[in-house]
Amino acid sequence: MRLKIALLGGDGIGPEVLAQAVKCLSAVHETFGHDFLFTSALMGAVAIEKTGKPLPENTLELCTKSDAVLFGAIGTPHFDNDPKAKVRPEQGLLNLRKTLGLFANIRPVKAFPAMLKQSPLKKEIVKGADLVIYRELTGGIYFGKKQLSQNGTFASDICEYSESEISRIAHMAFKAAKKRKGKLTLVDKANVLETSRLWRRVVTEISESYPEIEMDCMYVDNAAVQIMLNPKLFDVILTDNMFGDMLSDLGSVIIGSVGLLPSASIGDNNAMFEPIHGSYPQAKGKNIANPVASILSTAMLLQHFGLFEESNAVVAAVLKSFQKNIVTPDIMGSSKYGTDYVGDFIAENIVDQDQDFNMN
Ligand code: IPM
Ligand code: MN
Repeated sequence: MRLKIALLGGDGIGPEVLAQAVKCLSAVHETFGHDFLFTSALMGAVAIEKTGKPLPENTLELCTKSDAVLFGAIGTPHFDNDPKAKVRPEQGLLNLRKTLGLFANIRPVKAFPAMLKQSPLKKEIVKGADLVIYRELTGGIYFGKKQLSQNGTFASDICEYSESEISRIAHMAFKAAKKRKGKLTLVDKANVLETSRLWRRVVTEISESYPEIEMDCMYVDNAAVQIMLNPKLFDVILTDNMFGDMLSDLGSVIIGSVGLLPSASIGDNNAMFEPIHGSYPQAKGKNIANPVASILSTAMLLQHFGLFEESNAVVAAVLKSFQKNIVTPDIMGSSKYGTDYVGDFIAENIVDQDQDFNMN
């Protein structure tokens, strides 16, 4: 298969972990005889420094024309510590998600047997946990009108959702539940928010077309607790943009490290693959960042294009790295292995075999 893939390393550890993902895709390309064409472009603080804009036109154009985008991470302490900055790196990512119409962000949270001891949660809670978060990605409070008063003493962010924005991701989530354990939990704050009540009405109506799926609703505050106490309660979690952002970071506690969680952001015409972790500026250039989330994002990319054997081969190589303790220091404090060593090991172990791992 011929795929044009745009590479946006972004800020902090983004470029380092992305380089490992590219190694792995190149290994897939060699092993399975595909033709992946990579083109790099700027986004984030690095783009602001060089062009004044977080998402330069040529980056957007490249992404629009590509079959898929692989993204690293975004954000720097410089901007984090400057609340008055008019242009922010994160605007690049948000603008890209919106312009490419990437309305569904799929974040699988599946406990790896070899990583059970990494989680601060009890082994019996974590073992067998396998859920996926369908996070709405182009609406809600992230994209509503924002305002700061002239004198700087009042601010507002409006949360808006339309029925069509809810129903398109809801259908996707129900279809995913059909292929999984047959359960969907809508997470909201319907006791307080009007948008949440709209979500409940729309999703409940849609659930009638999926009678085989058991659907329930849960308030987000309770869901945060249940994800920690009993993650096995969940199969597919469907939720809005901000709740999904928060709950997916929480999901990383189950897995043991935020450096292990990949995601896929899907729209009607475009797709982007991104680790859920941030830019971890303290680790930049130290060769200690965990490349696994970025590498597993390539497994999701391959799966998206129907390259299932290839996707399985990437996951199998990652699992092998866990078994052999070829891991970065976030997993094992005493580990001497760096980002690129782990990336090399995984890329070298991508072989044609017949194991099956469903990433979502
Ligand atoms: C994520 C990140 C982003 C988000 C930030 C960097 C804008 O936290 O992908 O989860 O909030 O969506
Ligand atoms: Mn986040």
